[in-house]
Amino acid sequence: MSTILVTGGAGFIGSNYVRLLLRQQSAVRLLNVDSLTYAGNLENLTEVESDPRYSFVKADITDAAAVESIQEPIDEIVHFAAESHVDRSIEDAATFLRTNVLGTQVLLDFARRRGVKRFVHVSTDEVYGSLGPSDPAFSETTPIAPNSPYASSKAASDLLVRAAFHTHGMPVLITRCSNNYGPYQFPEKLIPLMIANAMEGKPLPVYGDGLNVRDWIQVEDHCRAVDLVRMTGRVGEVYNVGGRSERPNIEVVRTILRTLGHGDELIRYVKDRLGHDRRYAIDDRKIRNELGFTTLHNFEEGLAATVAWYGQNRAWWERVRSGDYRGYYERMYGSRLGNS
Ligand code: NAD
Ligand code: TYD
Repeated sequence: MSTILVTGGAGFIGSNYVRLLLRQQSAVRLLNVDSLTYAGNLENLTEVESDPRYSFVKADITDAAAVESIQEPIDEIVHFAAESHVDRSIEDAATFLRTNVLGTQVLLDFARRRGVKRFVHVSTDEVYGSLGPSDPAFSETTPIAPNSPYASSKAASDLLVRAAFHTHGMPVLITRCSNNYGPYQFPEKLIPLMIANAMEGKPLPVYGDGLNVRDWIQVEDHCRAVDLVRMTGRVGEVYNVGGRSERPNIEVVRTILRTLGHGDELIRYVKDRLGHDRRYAIDDRKIRNELGFTTLHNFEEGLAATVAWYGQNRAWWERVRSGDYRGYYERMYGSRLGNS
């Protein structure tokens, strides 16, 4: 039985990972450490909250004392916690530096003192910067060239993880994945924002000319990749993860509108994001060839299922959009943990 400390397990990808692991691996205990920022929502985890293999600690990863106070022996760490939205990083980079950079170092220090056996750092393809239309896809040896404060803070955290390997010989691994979509994604990111707006008949804001390209992967495929790296990756290595589904944003938006029976009338082209990366594309041959990774979802089927999920779980995103979800921790855990 391995005890895995998962950071950011109340967020989009982290909560999908927690659910997936408890469903597929019987011999694990999961400790979810999350500070519950605006993006952390324990309603994402109602399915597992009574599972005896799962527990939750409300703690900020930048608070070394809070992290050090964790008593359980920890075998492995899977580190998702981050500030993750590019537009917010353009408005205010400081929180990104605190959580993504300082928080990662706090966890590395904790992991070293505790003799943790595997430390998987979940990073992003955005650390590689932006591609032109016919540039080759990012490989693990593409030089890091981040363009947004978000991407720069993730790149900095990757470098600290690398330093932990070279300096202290720590058993670290890094994954760099492309854009995720699927259930429980906070409706500030492109796909859930467009779905929710279309369902409410609100305008769909498309930045610039709508021709920026992202590579899309279904979130469970990403989570399976992270877990494969945790179990079988070579320490000190970086593994790119991609969905092999490059699409211009406008095509994604139109597909969502068609799925919901709309024309283009809700589309609004708006002022472009500052420093907007034009294209991301991932060369994922390393994880596929070395570790035997394959994706299970293709984009069109995955997107249709995601649109259906947001239709069936309207109460979830309506509570998120109204801010009501923020009281969930206090209602569910406040009295039980004597914490607020
Ligand atoms: P998210 O914003 O949905 O969730 C982040 C989670 O981290 C939240 O639960 C939040 O409460 C928690 N958190 C934030 N600051 C914290 C702190 N200081 N202490 C403790 N917990 C804190 O993010 P996501 O989309 O699920 O992304 C998870 C990870 O995957 C991030 O590291 C991100 O960089 C990476 N990633 C995301 C994508 C994507 O498309 N979303 C793609 C590649 C990589
Ligand atoms: P986003 O989901 O924020 O992910 P990232 O910037 O990390 O790739 O955005 C995906 C793409 O969609 C990106 O090119 C910006 C664009 N976009 C819009 O056109 N309109 C929007 O309202 C948002 C949030 C994003």
